[in-house]
Amino acid sequence: MIVNTARFVVSNSDFRKCPAEIRHEYAFIGRSNVGKSSLINMLTGQKGLAMTSSTPGKTMLINHFLVNDSWYIVDLPGYGYARRSQADRFRLEGIIKSYILGREQMTNLFVLIDSRHKPQKIDLEFMEWLGENGVPFSIVFTKTDKQSATATDRQIGEYLTTLLETWEELPPVFRTSSEKGVGREELLDYIEQLNRLPLLTQE
Ligand code: GTP
Ligand code: MG
Repeated sequence: MIVNTARFVVSNSDFRKCPAEIRHEYAFIGRSNVGKSSLINMLTGQKGLAMTSSTPGKTMLINHFLVNDSWYIVDLPGYGYARRSQADRFRLEGIIKSYILGREQMTNLFVLIDSRHKPQKIDLEFMEWLGENGVPFSIVFTKTDKQSATATDRQIGEYLTTLLETWEELPPVFRTSSEKGVGREELLDYIEQLNRLPLLTQE
């Protein structure tokens, strides 16, 4: 898919105030600093579209971006940033989880995992929760430019082996580097395929 246009639409803390039109929508989630906002900028080809920062915890709201005037990309706050107050973490978790469960037109959730890291409890538990709630998701291994291809392969292989201890089947898996543009075609092609599926029909 070619991205011709991408523009910021609105930020919200409450999913019920998110854009009302029913369009295909793809949200990006993962630990703070895993590279959600950078990936959105890479996919849309607009460096400054989603705000990024080397300090974790940059994205605090549900951010909608309209792509090609037809579908939405959503940048979500990260989870698991330890240096936030417990009240803030609790509030953010509420924003994220109510969006995920309540936003019916969300076609797919991309769960980002740092390709250098061993499986972390917080991510595994989060994916378990998605499974329990029947949320369609894919896994995106980020920052693959930060180590050798061999190390990335090994790390991802181990990760998938761990997942198979609890999951019968693996979700679609992607690998990306926002720095180098790796995975852009694959992700956009996947979204293009999903865009062809019928959207939920309003009763
Ligand atoms: P929060 O909004 O805080 O949850 O973070 P985020 O997941 O949106 O991460 P963000 O995109 O802001 O990136 C965090 C840091 O990682 C920034 O310093 C980015 O430049 C860096 N980064 C993100 N993706 C990549 C990548 O593919 N390669 C490299 N080398 N750095 C990356
Ligand atoms: Mg962010």
